[in-house]
Amino acid sequence: MRTKISMITTLCMAATIDAFPGMGNTLQALSSIVKRQEIPKTELLADLKILPDSELTPVGKAIKAILQINRTAGPPQDFDTVYTVPGPLGSPECKAETCCMWKYVADEMATVFKGPSGRCTDLARGVVRLGFHDAGTWSKTAGGGGADGSFILAQEIMRPDNRGLENITNVMEDWYNKWHKHGAGMADLIQMGATIAAVSCPLGPRIRSFVGRNDSSIPSPEGRLPETNQDAEALIALFEDKTIVQGELISLLGAHTVSQQRFEDPSRAGDPQDSTPGVWDVKFYPETTSDHTPQRVFKFKSDVTMAEHPRSQELWTLFSDPERGPGAWAQVTYIRLSILGVEHINNLVECTGVLPLRVSNFTSTDETELESFLESKSAPMSEEAVKLLEGEVL
Ligand code: HEM
Repeated sequence: MRTKISMITTLCMAATIDAFPGMGNTLQALSSIVKRQEIPKTELLADLKILPDSELTPVGKAIKAILQINRTAGPPQDFDTVYTVPGPLGSPECKAETCCMWKYVADEMATVFKGPSGRCTDLARGVVRLGFHDAGTWSKTAGGGGADGSFILAQEIMRPDNRGLENITNVMEDWYNKWHKHGAGMADLIQMGATIAAVSCPLGPRIRSFVGRNDSSIPSPEGRLPETNQDAEALIALFEDKTIVQGELISLLGAHTVSQQRFEDPSRAGDPQDSTPGVWDVKFYPETTSDHTPQRVFKFKSDVTMAEHPRSQELWTLFSDPERGPGAWAQVTYIRLSILGVEHINNLVECTGVLPLRVSNFTSTDETELESFLESKSAPMSEEAVKLLEGEVL
């Protein structure tokens, strides 16, 4: 009880000084989980572990601060920076700036990540998951894998873990064929795609985004991605081996706020994981633990077991709070995830300015239709489910 009282006091103090409303709450709750686990809460990665501060580039310093959850020196989101291209694609002015080509890539991706309803599309959800499945094969203890583009370059789509990613794999191959000659690598296309997609979803985060990863066509080791039938302790251990602690895993799971499963239960293909698919709100959190969700909301066993784990509850409750949750759900971990296995983090280049701006208010125009779909009897890939996948108005 004493711990709880002192934590609430600290939470309130953190909230008053934070640059992003509520984010201090998350950081505090994250650190409390980490403290109990006695795991370094801010583990550095790759070259950032060995380079002295005097040898860090501005990007190296920023990423180090992000990984160390130093929110003053390293805020994980940037809502304002806008990159303006100095010239047309292929011009000498454009070639002289790394981010210039990425602005053209981002503009093209953004057109297919948002549907006519304003919700984000199947491709957007697909690339967020793809970003995880490319980078998440990395292991701290066993090495190998990581954000290296091998998912596509080594055709990892053939693995059962990756079912559901066929569509985005085909599109990503096309993008690579188009953009590689302008200098884009596969690993960067995937991770930039993930952050461009996240912010294309209404209410989505504008996560700081970096390029300069090396590509690899060596297949990543198998068996390193989570399964829905694993229990919470197994999932926590799996992610800790990627330097992602329990609180950070809870934050990442929130990506299921936009998703619609197809292969977990094919008889319910198209059913969403919360009542607002394609919208990056926090409803996933309370609905995963509620007994009163609309009948088509399909909960993954892994999300439920994580929510019910005793050490998850403080953070899960915070994220579920309609007032504090949206601001508190910081996106620090996406940056950690997106650079797993990258050896030369200090040499990356920041191109956050190329991302679309965040949509911070969203009201759907088809709320009544959505509600009746959510209460309807499950029919695999019903017309409404397909429209939702494509971000269309119901
Ligand atoms: C315990 C960890 C996790 C498990 C067991 C898990 C499992 C799944 C499953 C079974 C699906 C449905 C695939 C389908 O049927 O089409 C899915 C979808 C999705 N997952 Fe996860 N996931 C986990 C963590 C994550 C993380 C860390 C992220 C992102 C950082 C993520 C992002 C997504 C997204 C965006 C979708 C929707 C994909 C789409 O609509 O095509 N997941 N996940």
